[in-house]
Amino acid sequence: QDFETLLIETRGDVGLITLNRPKALNALNSTVMRELTQALRSFDADPQVGAIVLTGSEKAFAAGADIKEMQPVNFVDAYLDDLLGGWEAIAATRKPIIAAVSGYALGGGCELAMMCDFIIAAENAKFGQPEITLGVIPGMGGSQRLTRAVGKAKAMDLVLTGRMMDAAEAERAGLVARIVSTERLLDEALEAAAKIASFSRVAVLMAKDAVNRADELTLAEGLRLERRLFQSLFATADQKEGMAAFMEKRKPDFNNR
Ligand code: HXC
Repeated sequence: QDFETLLIETRGDVGLITLNRPKALNALNSTVMRELTQALRSFDADPQVGAIVLTGSEKAFAAGADIKEMQPVNFVDAYLDDLLGGWEAIAATRKPIIAAVSGYALGGGCELAMMCDFIIAAENAKFGQPEITLGVIPGMGGSQRLTRAVGKAKAMDLVLTGRMMDAAEAERAGLVARIVSTERLLDEALEAAAKIASFSRVAVLMAKDAVNRADELTLAEGLRLERRLFQSLFATADQKEGMAAFMEKRKPDFNNR
C-alpha cells in the first residue's frame, strides 16, 4: 500500500511507520492524519504485528500541525470540521506504539509522540508546545497529556512560554522513557518493539489498556480493573506456557494466535 506522507514496513513482528514529509519537517497535515490512522488500523488488524514503532527523520519527528494548512481556517469551519479532532483515532490503537523521536517534536509533533505508549528519544530530540507563539494553544492533547506526563509546573512553563526542552530535561521530567544516541535510536526502538511482540499478545494488550486507565479512573476503580484483567489471563494458554517455562527453566513459546 502506497502512502503519500508515510513509509510503511514490517520488520519481523514489528510494524514500522516513518513520517515522510521531509521538506516540511514532517508537519502534520490532514493527509498525514488520514494515512496514519489507516496505517495504524491495518497494523492493529494484522495478526503478524505485535507492536508498532512510529518515527520521523533525524532532524524532525514532526514540527507540528501544518501551519500552512491551518492559516486560512476560520472559527466556524474549525468547529464544524472538528479541526484536529481526527487525531484522537491514533490513541485508539490497541497494540503498543513506541515513538522514536529524533530532532523536533513540537506542537502537534510533541502531542503525537505523547499519543504513543512511550517515547524513546535521541540525544538531539527537542520537545515543546510553541502554539502560543502562533496565537493559539495546543489542540491535539498537549495541555492534558503533557500535564499528566510532567506535572503542572513544567507543563505551564512549556505551554505558556513556548520554549523547547531537550532530551535530558524531557527524561528528567518523565516525558521520555529512555535517551539513546541518534545513531542507536531506531534500533533501540525496534528492539524494544520486537521484545514486546514476543510476549503474549493478549497480555500485552491488557497491560497497555490497564496502564492507560490510570489516567482515567480513580485508584480504587483502576486497581479493581487491573485485578480483574490479571485474573482473566489465567484463562489463557499463554499464562500456562509462561509459568511452565519458568518452572522448567526454558524460554516460553507464546502462541500469539
Ligand atoms: C508547516 C512547517 C512547519 C509546520 C516547519 N515547516 N514547521 N510547515 N507547518 N509546523 C516548514 C517551514 O515552513 C519550511 O518550509 C521547512 O519546514 C523547514 O523549516 P525551517 O523553519 O526553514 O527550518 P529551521 O530553520 O531549521 O527551523 C526548524 C523549526 C521551525 C524551529 C522547527 O521550522 C519552526 O519553528 N517550526 C514551527 C514549529 C511550530 O510552531 N509548531 C507548532 C505548530 S502549531 P519552506 O517551504 O519555507 O522551506 C501546532 C498546533 C496544534 O502544532 C494545535 C493548535 C492549533
